[in-house]
Amino acid sequence: MTTATNPQTHLATAHKQTPVRIGLLGLGTVGTGVYKMLSRFENVTIRKIAVKDITKQRQLTEIPQDILTESVESVVSDPDIDLIVEVMGGKEFPYQIIKSALAAGKHVVTANKVVIANYGDELFQLASQNGVNLLFEAAVAGGIPIVLPLRTSLAGNRIQQIAGILNGTTNYILTRMEQAGLDFTDALKEAQQMGFAEADPTADVEGHDAACKIAILSAISCQKQVDQAAIHTEGISSIGAIDIDMARELGYAIRLIALYKAGEDQRVDIRVHPMLIPVSHPLSKIMFENNAIWVKGDAVGDVMFYGKGAGELPTASAVVGDIFLLVHALQNGQTSLAGLHFNLEGKASPLPMHDTVNAYYIRLETQDEAGVIGQLGKACGEHGVSLTAVMQKGIDPQTQSATIVLLTHDVQEANLQAALKAMQAQSTTRKIHTVLRVFQP
Ligand code: HSE
Repeated sequence: MTTATNPQTHLATAHKQTPVRIGLLGLGTVGTGVYKMLSRFENVTIRKIAVKDITKQRQLTEIPQDILTESVESVVSDPDIDLIVEVMGGKEFPYQIIKSALAAGKHVVTANKVVIANYGDELFQLASQNGVNLLFEAAVAGGIPIVLPLRTSLAGNRIQQIAGILNGTTNYILTRMEQAGLDFTDALKEAQQMGFAEADPTADVEGHDAACKIAILSAISCQKQVDQAAIHTEGISSIGAIDIDMARELGYAIRLIALYKAGEDQRVDIRVHPMLIPVSHPLSKIMFENNAIWVKGDAVGDVMFYGKGAGELPTASAVVGDIFLLVHALQNGQTSLAGLHFNLEGKASPLPMHDTVNAYYIRLETQDEAGVIGQLGKACGEHGVSLTAVMQKGIDPQTQSATIVLLTHDVQEANLQAALKAMQAQSTTRKIHTVLRVFQP
């Protein structure tokens, strides 16, 4: 490894004892970034790298061929490796591998949100039992420091609420719909051309990627393993360009939000869905592929973290930050970072959606007849849904339909669903197109 030249790297180069020996699992986008970043430092050495295909032509031609192996197991069981860096992706295989590494007394740094969201409690316990650390800053929001700030700097707070824009693909799509009036399909195509969206964009656009990440932030906040499968998850594919315009007229932007709210009675409200964000709130200003996490703590008040949530070097930055926490500890004679052992006590199930309380935006198409708005108001009133705004945008001359938007006060979701059913049953209602919740900081 070359000598550090960047003056900001003094911390990482301060201890020039025996280099800490790393086994890198995966040399895709993030692994390549980690290799590039670690090349700046003398106090770590990458002893082995596990790859899928050892013969593949690589961007990094300087990697010595003899440190590459196709056997992940041989890296994990190598007694001359102190720290495993898992950046392979996947679920069951990396889970098993992380388990073996921890059981073998090796520290693990991972970027794997799926493994941490699903198996965090078991793996954290295993790490503590074996006196090693499992660090995972890169698993949530790529380069943005949020895991460690929640676990350390904000640890004295009761975290009351988190609202995260945790998926860059969907934020890029919504930004382009907002800026250029594109519909969802064209904005998605553009995101794919720009390399932000995958060929199969389902996990991103349907909210599953964000659900995994908020499951992790929620677990840190409530100190319990969160059942990710129980998180209500809606994506952005049904949002129309018209919703973005209507929301803007009402003073809101639309963003995909991953939400955590601590309840009074140990109940947690965790969900992922698009929301109307007041334009006065900083989350409404997050554009393109960027991520942001707004946190409300009972002592600190509101804080917000912003930056790149994915990509080679941003994600590597988080991985390498975790690596250096361990490197400093090991080179100072500590065997682990005792303060960063982490135990989740029990499980948390998100509040059922029908028990949540929200304000709503409803866009519907009706016949153009006298009394329609009165009937909609009646259906709402009968179910305890109080309106704060009603907006109608002329009449479509071809279909003779009216587009009407309703905004409600806070109401329990069960009541809202009953009111929607009643509105849908009215003979003058042609279609309820969109129902969105409104973010209230
Ligand atoms: N695909 C994710 C995104 C990044 O679009 O933000 C990795 O979690």
